Amino acid sequence: MALAPQVFLTASQIDNRVRAMGAQISADYPEGPLYLIAILKGAFMFLADLARAISTPSRIEFMGISSYGKDKTSSGQVKVTKDLDVSIEGQHVLIVEDILDSGVTLTYLTNLLQQRRPKSLRIATLLDKPERRLRPVEVTYVGFQIPDEFVVGYGLDFAEDHRNLRDICVLTEEQRPQVTTAGE
Ligand code: PRP
Repeated sequence: MALAPQVFLTASQIDNRVRAMGAQISADYPEGPLYLIAILKGAFMFLADLARAISTPSRIEFMGISSYGKDKTSSGQVKVTKDLDVSIEGQHVLIVEDILDSGVTLTYLTNLLQQRRPKSLRIATLLDKPERRLRPVEVTYVGFQIPDEFVVGYGLDFAEDHRNLRDICVLTEEQRPQVTTAGE
């Protein structure tokens, strides 16, 4: 079956919003270094554009986070699969996420990073689905608040597909065949 995902946010809309977020972040952090910590894999494209929209001298770091089982929203079982290579003690840190859903991932991550005593710790997420929240998360920079639709593209996947789409698209249930992934 040919896949025809419906465009939800165009590349141009995303570009405009990410540039505005970058301008706001640049104004809020007049002095660097600002540590941009992107969470793999979904945030890679947002990070690339956001980093270029920020004029504050920045450092780019990555973390990998995974959940045990598909029911992570209820279990809250999260673990680090790739940790930072650097200390963030005394630094301004901005977590860069593609999407905030249940809040399980960011609750875990902010608690973990706070223990490392950064000078400041904030979150920038491109997408926010407030309807899905199970844990309260304080987010400073939000690109778009969206309804509870399954979205892909611009870094976001379904079963590892669609991350390279320039637009963010909605996948209907029919466009999401049942998949079984090892370890999930
Ligand atoms: C997504 C997204 C966030 C998390 C948000 O990652 O990138 O990290 O889920 O969901 P939550 O608020 O319910 O915790 P995912 O596990 O799909 O991995 P990926 O980024 O590698 O696609």
